[in-house]
Amino acid sequence: MTKPQTTMFAVRSVDEEYILPRIASLLKPLRVAVLISGTGEGLNALLAHQKISRTHSTKLILSNNSNAYGLIYGNKYNIRCKVVPLPKSTNKDLQRLMHEDLINKELLNSKIELIVLNGYMRVLTPSFVSKWKGKIINIHPSLLPKFPGANAHRDTINAKVTESGCTVHLVDDGVDTGYILAQEKVSINSLDDIKSLQEKIKKVEHKLYPKVIDNLSIGKYHIKS
Ligand code: GAR
Repeated sequence: MTKPQTTMFAVRSVDEEYILPRIASLLKPLRVAVLISGTGEGLNALLAHQKISRTHSTKLILSNNSNAYGLIYGNKYNIRCKVVPLPKSTNKDLQRLMHEDLINKELLNSKIELIVLNGYMRVLTPSFVSKWKGKIINIHPSLLPKFPGANAHRDTINAKVTESGCTVHLVDDGVDTGYILAQEKVSINSLDDIKSLQEKIKKVEHKLYPKVIDNLSIGKYHIKS
């Protein structure tokens, strides 16, 4: 079930259907994989944050796209980077499953405990999500449930609304429908276009996402009982 929440960092309850990652410590940080498809500015912000905040640590950067600019951050921070392109197949369903199988192997090889989608522009299948439910989070550039999908900025500008923002949520079987962990708003003025809105939202995303991961790693979200 999805409910909009304002940003807050008190202890929060999460629906029972999710199994959250273990509570981490400085001695045993949560092992994170970041999945990207593009520029990776959010990844860069998270890696900078993890230099100071040490209850989670990125051990693997995965991309479906060999041209993803964000892959350079693997070298910069000496983190294992892996490109997993879509395997060749004429059967699209089979192709998705084969692709996710390869990704899953990489995650297991690196003993990953939390999957952070950060500009990963593929929808995960229910089969993959069921293996990791509660351990996959996503950031989306709108105040969900408003404007889900791949064109959030365009849809927001076209709707002529005066505010937008970003949402961090647990991933479920739907597209941008999982349990909302936190949101942050930005205001929109009459001069804003898709590009300026994207930049405004990225600024708040780069602060909000690392904070949510901090809180998840130290057990500030717990399962409803
Ligand atoms: C971010 O704004 C993120 O919210 C968005 O892609 C951008 C990634 O930028 N994600 C989605 O639209 C997912 N539906 P980056 O590659 O520069 O971090």
